Amino acid sequence: MKAFVYLGPGKKALEERPKPDITASTDAIVKITKTTICGTDLHILKGGVPSCQPGRILGHEGVGIIEKVGPAVTTFKPGDRVLISCISACGKCVYCRKLMYSHCTTGGWILGNSIDGCQAEFVRIPYAETSLYRVPDGSDEEALVMLSDILPTGFECGVLNGKVQPGSTVAIVGSGPIGLAALLTAQFYSPSAIIMIDLDDNRLKVAKRFGATAVVNSSDGKAVETVLKMTGGYGVDTAIEAVGIPATFELCEKIVAPGATIANIGVHGTKVALHLERLWDRNITITTRLVDTVSTPMLLNILRSHKIDPKVLITHRFKLSHILDAYETFGHAADTRALKVIIEG
Ligand SMILES: NC(=O)c1ccc[n+]([C@@H]2O[C@H](COP(=O)([O-])OP(=O)(O)OC[C@H]3O[C@@H](n4cnc5c(N)ncnc54)[C@H](O)[C@@H]3O)[C@@H](O)[C@H]2O)c1
Ligand SMILES: [Zn+2]
Ligand SMILES: [Zn+2]
Repeated sequence: MKAFVYLGPGKKALEERPKPDITASTDAIVKITKTTICGTDLHILKGGVPSCQPGRILGHEGVGIIEKVGPAVTTFKPGDRVLISCISACGKCVYCRKLMYSHCTTGGWILGNSIDGCQAEFVRIPYAETSLYRVPDGSDEEALVMLSDILPTGFECGVLNGKVQPGSTVAIVGSGPIGLAALLTAQFYSPSAIIMIDLDDNRLKVAKRFGATAVVNSSDGKAVETVLKMTGGYGVDTAIEAVGIPATFELCEKIVAPGATIANIGVHGTKVALHLERLWDRNITITTRLVDTVSTPMLLNILRSHKIDPKVLITHRFKLSHILDAYETFGHAADTRALKVIIEG
């Protein structure tokens, strides 16, 4: 089969690989019909994710058709259409029982990381019964791909952790796919303001179209002043960090009102200053989370009822045989205006 393989920092290729087979009784083999590329895949390609070693097939998002199941899998059968979660969950360990699937002791984020992933014709999914979801009849497969990772991430790590409330004020720093997913799902709660902050005017324009009540380009260094002005001098009730660098977390620390929550989504590679000298008396909550994908069944219901259309995040489409072009397009998002690219199996 064809598969996109990480070959070490800066090296990648579309290779011919053997088709995966069942190795545990709880596995399923899925024929990929649609997959996509995540910002995390770009981190891996730069050598920034040590758990992902050269030779690995990348990809942790997608939909497909069950080809084969192990003897312990009873809820799925060959031919079933399924959504793949970016998090594999055994369903039984101490963390799975606490609904913290991302910390599953033998699963978590392993797909396209420590085991071969979805950017291929076929993928082996461990713990199939608790890591796959049946595709609802008549649903749009491209929209569903957004439920493997980015929608649960924006919703669980940003909106739920950030305690977005009816009438509350929200700022989302970072208007990439994850920040935009937080923007789409924050609207379930009807906050009175959602201010999107980014350096890229195109992404801010997209944010406005997706429901942001205001946008701020922070490249002039005046974002703090602007947000305070927009909120009557108070600051926001929820600040969602969706970039993953010190500057944007520190911006969140400066724009929160007393009683607010800073919900961090970004993956941070360096230490960030915590300004307790300013925050100690402000009743602030800071949350962190790796997406658990516990909200996937709820998001599937929302999708089925057309309350949101995550398809709006898709900007480009490629065949698997042209996945190198897809990476080129996704990797130069500022020029190509790419958000999510769909790769068809
Ligand atoms: N916690 C989790 O479970 C989880 C899951 C998936 C992704 N992530 C992380 O979420 C973050 C966002 O992911 P993404 O795919 O949307 O990334 P992205 O790189 O596509 O988007 C980041 C956005 O931030 C903007 N930006 C960069 N520097 C900025 C600055 N100084 N001020 C304001 N905006 C700035 C960029 O213009 C871009 O639009 C990443 O760190 C990613 O690793 C976390
Ligand atoms: Zn991802
Ligand atoms: Zn587990």
